[in-house]
Amino acid sequence: MSDESRPTPAQNPVAAVIPAAGRGVRLGPGAPKALRALNGTPMLIHAVRALAASRHVSLVVVVAPPDGAAEVKSLLDAHALPDRTDFLVVPGGESRQESVRLGLDALPPQYGTVLVHDAARPLVPVDTVDAVIEAVRDGAPAVVPALPLADTVKEVEPATVAGAPEPVVATPERARLRAVQTPQGFDRETLLRAHETVTGDVTDDASMVEQLGLTVVAVPGHEEAFKVTRPLDLVLAEAVLARRRLNDGF
Ligand code: CTP
Ligand code: MG
Repeated sequence: MSDESRPTPAQNPVAAVIPAAGRGVRLGPGAPKALRALNGTPMLIHAVRALAASRHVSLVVVVAPPDGAAEVKSLLDAHALPDRTDFLVVPGGESRQESVRLGLDALPPQYGTVLVHDAARPLVPVDTVDAVIEAVRDGAPAVVPALPLADTVKEVEPATVAGAPEPVVATPERARLRAVQTPQGFDRETLLRAHETVTGDVTDDASMVEQLGLTVVAVPGHEEAFKVTRPLDLVLAEAVLARRRLNDGF
């Protein structure tokens, strides 16, 4: 797109949808994952602050656990958040995909660029958020932050009994693989069309855009954008916060 025809940031404000309606089964028993504390502050609040830290993001839509919208609203009221950002809370659904769609349904029309960000990635740095936004504004219909893999990855024939040996069927070339994070960024119309068209199960939003036949691009992700999934991830997240506090002190 030429510079003259590209909308200015003010003409194309960015909204972030934060799906936070999951139970967090892999984290073990307790409150819904997004409401659990990291260093005394709910994970969701860390995630909301991380997205609202971008000066381009003017609306954050939080998709709450289905029966937890009132609780999430009071959490947002109780924590300091930037004044220049608007916040909406909607109840979520059974699957991540459904939760994201419920968030998109709540979006006012003026937002041409939409980020979708897991509440379970509370520590994503603002530079990663801004890099995704910039790539969408440069014309990509869908953008994912991604990192090279440390482990070699094998494709297996999954066992029907948990723990049984699984035959390896392929070893993709590691240098061509990326682990994909959030926020994923989209041209709004593209993402809405993807959610209307693609009905199969997916684990991220960009793969729905791939199924439309459009090109998704990857930009560099960040190791601190990891997803809190299992109990050890809570330990890592608190260690990252402790390191940030130390660094802020100097
Ligand atoms: N999510 C959601 N609605 C659902 C399921 C998931 O909004 N019905 C959100 C989660 O809250 C999380 C993000 O999608 O922020 C990524 O999902 P995941 O890490 O799998 O979280 P959970 O589904 O909560 O965890 P688990 O799969 O272990 O239950
Ligand atoms: Mg899940």
